[in-house]
Amino acid sequence: MKGRRPRPLDDGDSGEVRVSVELSRAKLINKIGAISSLRLIVRQLAIMTVISDCTASALKDAAASLMAGNLVAFPTETVYGLGADACNEKAVARIYEVKGRPSDHPLIVHISSIEQLDKWAKDIPEYAIKLARSFWPGPMTLILPRTDLAKDFITGGQDNVGIRVPAHTIALSLLKDFEFQGGYGIAAPSANRFGKVSPTNSKDVEDELGEYFSKDDKILDGGFSKVGIESTIINCTELRPVILRPGQITDEMVETILSINLERSDSTISNIKSSGLLDAHYSPNAKVVLEGSPKPGDGLIAFAHIPTPVGVIRLASPKNEKEYAQMLYSAFRQADHKGIKVIRVIPPVAQGLGKAIVNRLTKASYKQIS
Ligand code: TXA
Ligand code: MG
Repeated sequence: MKGRRPRPLDDGDSGEVRVSVELSRAKLINKIGAISSLRLIVRQLAIMTVISDCTASALKDAAASLMAGNLVAFPTETVYGLGADACNEKAVARIYEVKGRPSDHPLIVHISSIEQLDKWAKDIPEYAIKLARSFWPGPMTLILPRTDLAKDFITGGQDNVGIRVPAHTIALSLLKDFEFQGGYGIAAPSANRFGKVSPTNSKDVEDELGEYFSKDDKILDGGFSKVGIESTIINCTELRPVILRPGQITDEMVETILSINLERSDSTISNIKSSGLLDAHYSPNAKVVLEGSPKPGDGLIAFAHIPTPVGVIRLASPKNEKEYAQMLYSAFRQADHKGIKVIRVIPPVAQGLGKAIVNRLTKASYKQIS
């Protein structure tokens, strides 16, 4: 027998065939059982770590993990981001995989301060420097001509790159540690599946992306995001700035700082590619309806002074625009958890921060209108 190749199971033609078929069936069932429990173990092992105690050493570890090519979801003042080393193509590819996002959509690179800006951007117009000095760290992303550091896998093949300095202590410490360890910037889209609502706390990230993470990935918990909607995106590749996505840094704030009048237009006068600019985006599973009155069983999002009709499920009662933005996405998620089919929303006036809220509401409701 020595030297003979092991015989494959059940390839014999002897009288023992039936017995061995039975045996192998039993073995197979055992194997399937073993495989499924193995899968269960692997799945359990695959669950990423949630770090709720973001100590200095935990953040250093998280930065090292990014340097090693893993993903780290982290809090920012706007929404939670799904971070990867912006110079590591493989790590960035995992962002697209976990989000289920088309790979030609550009990513925002996060840096710790304006001093890091010229690593990523060149030919920066004077007005962009002014904006950065006025609103960074803060909820504003500038689109600028890229340097060679910003590869096509970050910019979606465009000649510009989106850069932001977030205003969140955990995000900033992570960025500083990451840069100290030799990194240049953290690419981070919102930490949700493509087209879905951005997460504003770590539990929402875990619920939405948990099953797509690997065991070495991490989620840093930093409580609830204070702004609640994504950053204002400003195209700074032309002679004058153009706001591509409204946010907490409003048209009026930009106009005041730069002493200019922005062109007021709903349509984006730009051929810049930006998934947040797609007509339908930021959608919960429930149907978001901006007109009419709510019926029993519907969810309702409206300012606090507006009463809740009988049988209607109140999802949020913000007292002002700031609270409206903070509560909006968790109200959407709450509706989905409760299995609510229709969310009636009474929007704010589309001015100042209200403009950004109405922008997200319109996008959330788009799929129903079209
Ligand atoms: O507040 C935020 O901006 C959050 C936090 C995590 O920083 N990030 C965020 O990323 O909202 P994301 O990828 O979900 O939305 C950013 C939008 C996308 O629509 C993307 O296509 C666009 O910005 N974008 C990024 N880089 C761009 C570029 N170079 N040119 C045009 N659009 C760009
Ligand atoms: Mg997003």
